[in-house]
Amino acid sequence: MDFTAEKSAEIVSASFDAARDPRAREVLQALTRHLHAFVREIRPSMAEWEQAIDFLTRTGRTCTDTRQEFILLSDVLGVSMLVETLEAEHTTIGATPATVLGPFHMVASPPRELGDSIDLVADGTPCVIEGRITDTHGNPLPGASVDVWQADDKGFYDVQQPGTLPEGNGRGLFTADEEGRYRFRTVRPAPYPIPVDGPVGELLDVAGRHPYRPAHVHFIVAAEGHHPVTTHAFAADSAYIDSDTVFAVKRDLIVDFVTVDDPAEAARHGVTAPFRHARFDIALAPANPPSTPHTK
Ligand SMILES: [Fe+2]
Repeated sequence: MDFTAEKSAEIVSASFDAARDPRAREVLQALTRHLHAFVREIRPSMAEWEQAIDFLTRTGRTCTDTRQEFILLSDVLGVSMLVETLEAEHTTIGATPATVLGPFHMVASPPRELGDSIDLVADGTPCVIEGRITDTHGNPLPGASVDVWQADDKGFYDVQQPGTLPEGNGRGLFTADEEGRYRFRTVRPAPYPIPVDGPVGELLDVAGRHPYRPAHVHFIVAAEGHHPVTTHAFAADSAYIDSDTVFAVKRDLIVDFVTVDDPAEAARHGVTAPFRHARFDIALAPANPPSTPHTK
């Protein structure tokens, strides 16, 4: 069959017919179908196509051990959230919704004791975050691991400012107590722009889109016999709560970071008044839910 614009997808798709893995075949043929339709629709010039290849090449070259430009690209295109949302169709009612991992979880969080501070700089408004890890029926999950990470009050993660911010600043790995409770001290998280000095920044600039994320704290919570969840707690009063540049805000993840101006309460938590207090309870779905997930 001659290669024509009309037949291209069919011809290339057929070249994958013999793929040994049926899932690989399905993925490669769907990729071919959609990619060829996309190219037919936009009819790029060769110069534009080279520009696209250059963009992806530079996206790859921007990645380092501490920077993940491809995750960022997936995030700003809404693909990370689409994958999460589709996967969430399997999740049990009552489980805390998942949201994007984001590009800054490339280092292990240091283990810390309940009540410890993840803020090593002592800069910014003190903040206490606590909650319970339960199953979807409200039963506590003692020993659940609670991995948290956040930007400092100026909007930077430790890995973005090596030498300025100590390693592990804004990160902690906690173990829930016998009642499934966790708590830690930190600083009030701030909205921040995703890194704009790379190809993803160029894309946002071309689009006239702002690069900001509303203030949030990241969580990965895991417990034996349950589905782990990767999620965020978003500060309800944050700027950009309605226009997160990576589309990650879900209603159930918006939390009040309440101002508390009571010295006794502050002392009880080991902070100074006034401070912010947030309660974020997390419910995990059973690892093998009884309901049958959809197949297609
Ligand atoms: Fe973040």
